[in-house]
Amino acid sequence: MHPDKLLVALDFGNRVEMEEKLSRVARTLNPSPIQQISLLAQSSNAINLAEGFPDFPAPPHIKDAAISAINSDFNQYRHVQGICDCLAIKMKKEHGLDVDALTDIAICCGQTEAFAAAVLATIDRGDEVLLFDPSYETYETCIALAGGVPVRVPLDPPHWTLDPDKLMKAATDRTKAIVLNSPQNPTGKVFSKDELEAIAGACCDMDWLAITDEVYEHITFDMEKHTSLASLPGMQERTIITSSLSKTFSVTGWRLGWAIAPACIASAIRNIHIKITDSAPAPFQEAAVTALRSPSTYFESLRREYEVKRDYIVKMLVGLGFQIHFKPQGSIFVFAELPKKCLLSDIDFASELIKQTGVAAVPGCGFFHKNLHSNELSEDNQSYQNRYIRFAFCKSDATLRDAAEKMGEFVDHNGHLKLFHSL
Ligand SMILES: Cc1ncc(COP(=O)(O)O)c(C=O)c1O
Repeated sequence: MHPDKLLVALDFGNRVEMEEKLSRVARTLNPSPIQQISLLAQSSNAINLAEGFPDFPAPPHIKDAAISAINSDFNQYRHVQGICDCLAIKMKKEHGLDVDALTDIAICCGQTEAFAAAVLATIDRGDEVLLFDPSYETYETCIALAGGVPVRVPLDPPHWTLDPDKLMKAATDRTKAIVLNSPQNPTGKVFSKDELEAIAGACCDMDWLAITDEVYEHITFDMEKHTSLASLPGMQERTIITSSLSKTFSVTGWRLGWAIAPACIASAIRNIHIKITDSAPAPFQEAAVTALRSPSTYFESLRREYEVKRDYIVKMLVGLGFQIHFKPQGSIFVFAELPKKCLLSDIDFASELIKQTGVAAVPGCGFFHKNLHSNELSEDNQSYQNRYIRFAFCKSDATLRDAAEKMGEFVDHNGHLKLFHSL
């Protein structure tokens, strides 16, 4: 099925004339497979394992702080310096980085705005920016909006390994920056020490900037630990770190994030942020100070609880017949491979999964460099870019159990999803 067919029909009226009014870059933006699946999931009231937001409550101590800030009438534009002070302490303690709380931090509306402002602050028209393939889909759009050119560096399945030769092959004299997201969406990969050293070495040798997305910094499993690329030799002066409260504190709707960068870049990001949104939500800035001061036990139990959820969903999906060669080392996602016998593309599989079982997950193709459409699939049906389905496990135990039960109703005598046999 062509992805556009997933969209709820909208009446655009004089669509053609109005499209001519759009900017060139806006005309290139299409709804992603994730948005399309989410629309379908909403309209069919499906259990949502598609989107990366928790369906369980946020921690009471930070909710109390936000309520107290609202009751104290923190209602106006605001910059809460306490966030920067906490972040400077955190960066020293966790990564050994000396960060000046007065000059090196910009508070933004989530990592999303911090990333967009970082790109707008550093990327000129025609600059090339390296992105790993697969990666979170927002980066490419931000780079395109800035006039930059995203250039993909493929990670090798099934473990999504970085081959340093492929990294260098993607580089040109127009390469300005590289984007690193670790722990990674969609694969759950935590980049290894060797891989981080290869990236840092290339940045230093080629004089690239690095823009990191560390939103899953506190969600790692087994013996994995998050290392900030900026902590490698020679990297702090060329790295823009972006992160947020969203995932660590289960508050994706609070829109509270930050960028940490050398002073002149942080200052440019602050200026752009002020022009675009002025300030992050005042009450949630107050609550962020409380969040960032959470005891270590909070972060330990976050990790433990997510590890249990990861183990549950991996076991469930393997039982249903998915192939999981790579167990997530971090993040809130599992990138499960369709079995060889399944002849459906990822897009068709995800839409059928909603229709037949009432469970929503995301087709993996949106995270790769091109969105393959079904009419291209006959030639290349086994291309790995259309063989993955992303499941989000940042859901309550009850939701995960419901999803398991629903899918469990549609299995063959081996316990595998019947859907794998569809054509
Ligand atoms: C890798 C990654 N970065 C950033 C975000 C969004 O972060 P924020 O809510 O802070 O804008 C997401 C959300 O799913 C994500 O997966």
